[in-house]
Parts: sequence; structure tokens; C-alpha cells
Amino acid sequence: MANVLSQLENRILTITINRPDKLNALNQATLRELDGIVMDATDNDEVAVIIITGAGDKAFVAGADISELATTDAMTGMQFARYGQSVFNHIENCGKPVIAAVNGFALGGGCELAMACHLRIASDNAKFGQPEIKLGVIPGFGGTQRLTRLVGKGKSMEMNLLGDMVSADKAEQIGLANWVVPQGELLPTVTKVAEQLANSAPIALSMTIDAINKGLECALPDALDYEVKAFGICCASEDKNEGTAAFLEKRAAKFAGK
Ligand code: COA
Repeated sequence: MANVLSQLENRILTITINRPDKLNALNQATLRELDGIVMDATDNDEVAVIIITGAGDKAFVAGADISELATTDAMTGMQFARYGQSVFNHIENCGKPVIAAVNGFALGGGCELAMACHLRIASDNAKFGQPEIKLGVIPGFGGTQRLTRLVGKGKSMEMNLLGDMVSADKAEQIGLANWVVPQGELLPTVTKVAEQLANSAPIALSMTIDAINKGLECALPDALDYEVKAFGICCASEDKNEGTAAFLEKRAAKFAGK
């Protein structure tokens, strides 16, 4: 059985990490399959939005596979972390909005996977955490960095040093989850958000993601300059002509991504 499933419907690609008996833990094979699907989706014009979720009703992803972690040494550990980071970087930079539908435990690599996505919508049974400290390691797939950027230094220190789980409600309070919904409403809610994004202007979406991501990596004057250039690119798009015309003609815009 595949470790990762994917299904394309109405230009929304749903990717499901599919190891429910291991709480969807990420082993190397799963990471490779995930990366292949994300890379294909990046180049596929039929895909407008990506949803990532976990199989079953217990876990989004309960972390990197601890049985593989147990056999690492300095060199293989670095390779594993570097590879996981590159997979998550591909998600973050795929040029299309990616929503994490967090349907349960999002721990370690699962929390890091959710943070590489652009939006996190969680069910009320979800639990987030970076518990690596309890295994004698630190996060290797971006947890010390993306968590700090999302929730600030204080909360990131707390979650990374204590390694305790935080509830979905707490995750929403600190900005780690965008919304929390009852478990049964997770997929309908995520689908609704994905549909809204799929009907939005693709170039502007991509430029927004890029400007926010790039901007966080540089000083404000450079970040603002990047925004100026991205704004200029949007102004040269057919989507801008369509969006402004639709507003003035009091009709819904139909964006072509050109
Ligand atoms: N890697 C490998 N296997 C994992 C796993 C992981 N990160 N997380 C869970 N599993 C496996 C368990 O070993 C168990 O397998 P088994 O049935 O073959 O023994 C199965 O998934 C179910 O997990 P279990 O621990 O029995 O479920 P639980 O409901 O009692 O506890 C958790 C759930 C999430 C609290 C617990 O599984 C856990 O702490 N997982 C590890 C989380 C973690 O440290 N992640 C960071 C890794 S770097």
C-alpha cells in the first residue's frame, strides 16, 4: 500500500499521509513519496491548491519515524534532517497555497510539516508539539526555525525545550493554527477554504506567499523592495485586468492565472 495517497478534484489536490497504524510517522520512503507528489503538483497547471492531511482520525503526522531515528549517527542524522528540510522547503515554495488539515497529532515532523504549509486548519482533537527533546534530539525539519517565526521566541522556546503537547485551542491562541473546527467539520471547512483559493488569482497568490516568505528572510527595506517588484508583476498580469474590470462591472472575477 502507498505511504502517501493523492487525489485531484476541482483543481484541489488532497495529499494524505497514509500510515495510520504508525500514526502517519514519516519514514524515508514516505518523505520520498510526499516529495514526488509535491514536485509533480508544482509543475501541474491542473493543480491550484494543495491540502495535506493524515489518514485516520487520530493523527495528522506523529513525527519522524522513531525506529529510523534510533539507527542514525551524526552523518546519517544530518542527511535525514537535510532531506526532510528539502521536502518541506519544496512544499513551502511550491508556488500554490498549501493547507494543512490537521486532524489529530501533529508532533515533531508532523508539526514541522504543518508549519511548512501556508495555512493550518485544525480539528478540535488536534495536538501540536515538538517533543524531540524527550528523545534526546532537537527538531531537524525546521521546528526550531519555523515555529519561532510563527509564534515568537518565547513560545517557541517553551514548546521546543519542554516538548509538551499543546491543544488545538492553545495552538490557535498563539498563532500556530489559523482556525480550529469540530472534528467532523474539518474536511468540509478545509475544502471550502481551498475552493476560495482555487477561484482566486493564481499569480497574486503565488506572489503573496513569496513576498511573505522572502520578506521574513531579509531586512525591511529589502523586503519592501521585493514587495514592490512582486506588485509590479501582478500589475502586468491579465488577472489584474480581469480583477479590476470585474469590480468595476460589478461581477465576479474569473481568473486565468495569466
Ligand atoms: N515513529 C514511529 N512510530 C510511531 C511514532 C513515530 N513518531 N508515533 C507513533 N508511532 C507508532 C507506535 O510505535 C505504535 O506502533 P505499534 O502499534 O506498532 O507499537 C503506533 O504508532 C501507535 O502509537 P501509540 O504510541 O501506541 O499511540 P498512543 O495513542 O498511545 O500515543 C502518541 C500517541 C502520539 C502520544 C505517541 O505515539 C507518541 O508519543 N509518538 C511519538 C511522538 C514523537 O515523539 N514524535 C517526534 C518524533 S522525532
